[in-house]
Amino acid sequence: MATTPAALQHEAKRPAGQIPAPEVAAGGDALSIDEAREAAKGCRRCPLWRDATQTVFGEGPESAEVVFVGEQPGDQEDLAGKPFVGPAGRILDATLDDADIERRKTYVTNAVKHFKFEPRGKRRIHSKPNAGEIQACRWWLDKELDLIKPQVVVALGATAAQSLLGKAVPVLKRRGEVIERDDGLRVFITIHPSLILRIREPADKDAERERFLKDMRKVKQLMAA
Ligand code: URA
Repeated sequence: MATTPAALQHEAKRPAGQIPAPEVAAGGDALSIDEAREAAKGCRRCPLWRDATQTVFGEGPESAEVVFVGEQPGDQEDLAGKPFVGPAGRILDATLDDADIERRKTYVTNAVKHFKFEPRGKRRIHSKPNAGEIQACRWWLDKELDLIKPQVVVALGATAAQSLLGKAVPVLKRRGEVIERDDGLRVFITIHPSLILRIREPADKDAERERFLKDMRKVKQLMAA
């Protein structure tokens, strides 16, 4: 049966046995972020679409000077269809605010655009994307960067850094650094904001928040440079 990306986008979730042959969504000829977002709705480049609610594409103006790249949508993002709207997003928003960066003028996206999780009772527990899933979704990240051509890209954590640089990067060691890619794109390395959420000790949490804010102030400088 011939299936178009537009039709695929409205498919209900199906049991594994009824999944058609994998298809790769169109999108190579997308001339704008809106066109790419539309094409990505039918993406079948990896199996993560099967259990996720929807593709969570990047959000923000095509004229953005800075692109923030996270790991993958979480539970709330999967339901809302928008990146960084849950607890990690609130930390990101507050820190950007403190660093005098307006989120609405930035482009925020993820290395992997479907939520990967393990069901546990009624809860869906975040599960890390593997190298194959990161590689498959890099196609969309490259497309976003190609269309936006930002001054600087911020890798929020190890998955983003791996996707952007094509290799594993020790984030805690290299945070605050800019790594220039062969194509000239500057990649700023920092932590994923969910790291702050996981710290229990209030003093350690505050200290990590301060370090993240210091990183975001550096990003602000790089945006203008
Ligand atoms: N974590 C991410 O990496 N991305 C999101 O969009 C939300 C949480």
